[in-house]
Amino acid sequence: MVAPATDRDLLLHGYDAIEFWVGNAKQAAHYYRTGFGFRLIGYAGPETGVRDRASYVLEQGQIRFVLTSGLTPDHEIVRHHALRGDAVRNVAFQVSDAERAYALALDRGAAPWEAPTLHEDEHGQVRIASIAAFGDTIHSFVERDAYAGPYRPGFVSVADDPISDPAGLQAIDHVVANVEEGRMEEWAAFYERILAFEPLRHFDDEDISTEYTALMSKVLSDGAGRIKIPINEPAQGRKRSQIAEYLDANSGPGIQHLALATDDIVATVSRLRSRGISFLEVPAEYYDDAEERVGHVHESWADLAELGILVDRDEEGYLLQIFTEPVQDRPTVFYEIIQRRGATGFGVGNFRALFEAIERAQARRGNL
Ligand code: FE2
Repeated sequence: MVAPATDRDLLLHGYDAIEFWVGNAKQAAHYYRTGFGFRLIGYAGPETGVRDRASYVLEQGQIRFVLTSGLTPDHEIVRHHALRGDAVRNVAFQVSDAERAYALALDRGAAPWEAPTLHEDEHGQVRIASIAAFGDTIHSFVERDAYAGPYRPGFVSVADDPISDPAGLQAIDHVVANVEEGRMEEWAAFYERILAFEPLRHFDDEDISTEYTALMSKVLSDGAGRIKIPINEPAQGRKRSQIAEYLDANSGPGIQHLALATDDIVATVSRLRSRGISFLEVPAEYYDDAEERVGHVHESWADLAELGILVDRDEEGYLLQIFTEPVQDRPTVFYEIIQRRGATGFGVGNFRALFEAIERAQARRGNL
């Protein structure tokens, strides 16, 4: 049963879009289409009357990405790119009432970014308001019930995309933030206070440490479980943790990874690998005792080992997951591909194997 709305509810329906500010949106769009199987559905730029930027709207399943680059040297997007490289700018949520969500958020202490604005064209109306979050990241509240066009007013439809071939990605499972040492609790409190999220889980450095990396993580979720945001901070590691490496490369806090859900991870990862998406190498020994550790799974262990897919079990079931290498030259944003078979966790049993793999990559970059 769905609980009735209360004054505390911002009435978030889920993710609306993830907007990336990138150096070259035209080429990034090509990568996400041919590599990850996204379909180009909308565009805005000089040809459509937008003078200062170009944006490409990509969709796969329920996932929507918007890739935007600035077109002049002193543009805020270009400056953002100089600091952070290709990075997530906006984690936008769909809401039933953008004015209400914005007013409630401000009332609870959110820093305003953009007051509610009505965008209109022949396809209808979209109302958008935004608040500031960690680093330069913002959260937009997007009300689009009255809109039938592609993405939002100002964008033109792209009828068909001859180079996209779907990879079976269906939805955003979770979005992970890296924040500075000592600031995880503050940002967890932000989501609890401002967006009425609930703490789901907490991992400390006892759970998550290797020779080099120690981190703490707290997972926040909206009541319905549609939006899950783990927040990581580096703990004092022996050397240079992967979170510290990220914070340097990104000139501060930001989105570390996006987990994209599939219901057939073997097929999805096979496709992604065949298109040149590279994943962290899992040591072959990981599979030696995997079956003993997690018990029976529906997938073939030979397939999982060949593709490098990790498995973890919790009280409710198991999950399969794999992590890409960073998708730009800076060691910042990467992707997780995840299939849940009952499990609601985040694969804590895999963290050690995973982090050791990340550290081998860090060492190759000379950052360890
Ligand atoms: Fe994750």
